[in-house]
Amino acid sequence: MAANRKLLILPGDGIGPEVMTEVRRIIDWMDARRGVGFDVTEGLVGGVAYEATGSPFPDETLEAALASDAVLFGAVGGPQWDGLDFSLRPERGLLGLRKELELFANLRPAVVFEALADASSLKRELVAGLDIMIVRELTGGIYFGEPRGIEQLADGSRRGVNTEVYTTGEIRRVARVAFELARKRRGLVHSVEKSNVLESSQLWRDEVTRLHGEEYADVELRHMLADNAAMQLVREPKQFDVMVTTNLFGDILSDCAAMLTGSLGMLPSASLGAPDPAGFIRGLYEPVHGSAPDITGQGLANPLAEILSFAMLLRYSFDMTDEAELIDAAVSAVLAGGLRTADIMQPGMAKVSTTGMGDAILAELDKRAA
Ligand code: IPM
Ligand code: MG
Repeated sequence: MAANRKLLILPGDGIGPEVMTEVRRIIDWMDARRGVGFDVTEGLVGGVAYEATGSPFPDETLEAALASDAVLFGAVGGPQWDGLDFSLRPERGLLGLRKELELFANLRPAVVFEALADASSLKRELVAGLDIMIVRELTGGIYFGEPRGIEQLADGSRRGVNTEVYTTGEIRRVARVAFELARKRRGLVHSVEKSNVLESSQLWRDEVTRLHGEEYADVELRHMLADNAAMQLVREPKQFDVMVTTNLFGDILSDCAAMLTGSLGMLPSASLGAPDPAGFIRGLYEPVHGSAPDITGQGLANPLAEILSFAMLLRYSFDMTDEAELIDAAVSAVLAGGLRTADIMQPGMAKVSTTGMGDAILAELDKRAA
């Protein structure tokens, strides 16, 4: 664990700053009540960074990220920036951070809280107790492959190109993360690709199979095509434990898995790099939900995904398991007590604002720490 916990906070756009405010209150609480100090810096990313500096990913933000032990991210994007060139769009800030910090493994848990099992669009019995971990490759594939671009053709029409590309090393390092996680869970990995159509997926399947045989024969490995995986996620989601997949398939399947839990507003994620020689792993933590411009500034946003992202940060970057569990337990208790933000509102429950949810979590933390 790092001696002084250096934390970079990047609230970003849309509801990012609102949900981050609630986490700041928890950080202050940790400091006051548990004596765990964080060295917090705040930086600019996304649309707000573009407005202030002309770039969605300013050099100062990269430098601050490299100098910190962990990054807590809010959200980026909004319709006002949709017309910009790709290189200037808010999303570039996030993609740049992932790439520059080499955060190749994106952990996206889809966990159904008991109190929310009825909020899912699927029947309770299909989702109650659900606990899936999606491991999405995050710095390769079609998101970053070359060549890419839009070109003008002689006949006046245009041609858009992106490239899906994976190397042995990129596949093995992310598969390793999945196998290691499975060992601590139920011991099952589904590797998801389209090897019936794509060569890069055939390589994916070959390399995952090889690594499994070499080092992880104790873990059960199953291969599944991505279209089937999408279908199986809504047909019988509890068949999955850990899923490991490419950047693009992971983007899509993790939104699908997220909705099984009732709300995108509940889901945290961690993006991790490789351990350095001292064993330290760089991490960026962010809610799976986006900037949600439609509800920005109205006190409607659910801060729980950002709060749970902070709990993941405590767990994975700082080894602070007790504090992480405290937060997880407070979230479960508040939900069990019947409080709901608009996105997870159900009949008979009490609707609260973003701040109201933050208040309730703090009160619950107080109770538990007393
Ligand atoms: C996500 C988001 C991002 C992605 C966007 C905002 C670039 O959808 O984190 O899933 O596609 O990776
Ligand atoms: Mg996405």
